[in-house]
Amino acid sequence: MLQCLKEFVCLFAILTALNRGNAMNARHLIDLNDFSLQDWNRIIQLAQEMMDHPADYRDACRGRLMATLFYEPSTRTQMSFQAAICRLGGSYIGFDNPLNSSVAKGESLKDTVRIVSGYSDLLVIRNSLEGAAKAASLYSGCPVINAGDGGHLHPTQTLTDLVTLMKEKGTLTSLTVGLCGDLKNGRTVHSLIKALSQFSNRFILISTPELSVPSYIKDVMDAQGCPYREVFSLEEAIPQLDVLYMTRIQRERFASPQEYESQRNVYVLDKAKMQRAQKDLVVLHPLPRVDEIENEVDFDPRAKYFDQAKCGMFARMALITLLMESPYENPGPPPKSLPGVKCTNSRCITNHEHYLPKTFKESGGMYICEYCDQRIVL
Ligand code: NCD
Repeated sequence: MLQCLKEFVCLFAILTALNRGNAMNARHLIDLNDFSLQDWNRIIQLAQEMMDHPADYRDACRGRLMATLFYEPSTRTQMSFQAAICRLGGSYIGFDNPLNSSVAKGESLKDTVRIVSGYSDLLVIRNSLEGAAKAASLYSGCPVINAGDGGHLHPTQTLTDLVTLMKEKGTLTSLTVGLCGDLKNGRTVHSLIKALSQFSNRFILISTPELSVPSYIKDVMDAQGCPYREVFSLEEAIPQLDVLYMTRIQRERFASPQEYESQRNVYVLDKAKMQRAQKDLVVLHPLPRVDEIENEVDFDPRAKYFDQAKCGMFARMALITLLMESPYENPGPPPKSLPGVKCTNSRCITNHEHYLPKTFKESGGMYICEYCDQRIVL
């Protein structure tokens, strides 16, 4: 009897969470724009509820299977997805080293995705090529989540960041947000600016001139009317910040070791700089940290990056639950290529997996690659 009552309470909690709105419209999470603001709010609220009452959701995905295809190294993203599905009562398959799969025999991304999505209900993919998750979505028999595509985007890290900010600041609006480090190659930075631009925030972009944010991200801030400044000195910027988002210099995305060496150790957050900051500053970092935050800062109550990693599991639990509930139809044949146009970004997936249709949006005298957002002037 008691067991029956417990199951009823658990089912009620899940249904209440799922019925807070209609099922999500998006089929995949490739870019943040795939979801409406309402969808994001629902995910954030559900994540908070899951954090407060995890046991109520332990059967939310019972019998469901998630696949994790990680072509690039990962600790937090991969394991938090896997922990999330397990905590929801589901299970997972996948690889974290493509060389142990048929990729080593030359299998295309398209074929791997078709096969694995036939085995599973949700596919989570990380790849070093930009636009890889978008490419996967063209061939997948189940929803695809982008767990990072090269230096382009990382929407579920942003979801993690938003859930953490809500928990720590109680708001996502009117904040002065400093982003520091490799703003050029840091995909978490690009996704976070895109998201926070929708909530009337101000940005201070702290980097060397070589590692400043790409122009398409500046276009996003301009389009949303969000003020931003590009500065060099972390020391000078820190007193003005409500949030400081530190990032590592992305060694693997540099053309040569010399270029990387010239950029490392420029920014190091230490106790002395923290003394100049506001009392309620929140310091975030998507992690892994290399040498950009001194260990001594970990004991400062404003350092929230380890809590942030934990929030990521709840954020992904909410996302998985809602995406699993959304209707999904198999994709039809892929769209046709735009004749005579090729993406000029050598890291774009379309320049590596040659069967992919080359598709572009046209805007203001430019073609914008639909996979990697590269601008091509007509
Ligand atoms: C980030 C990533 O992979 O982009 N890490 C993560 O997902 N938590 C940041 C990084 O690697 O620097």
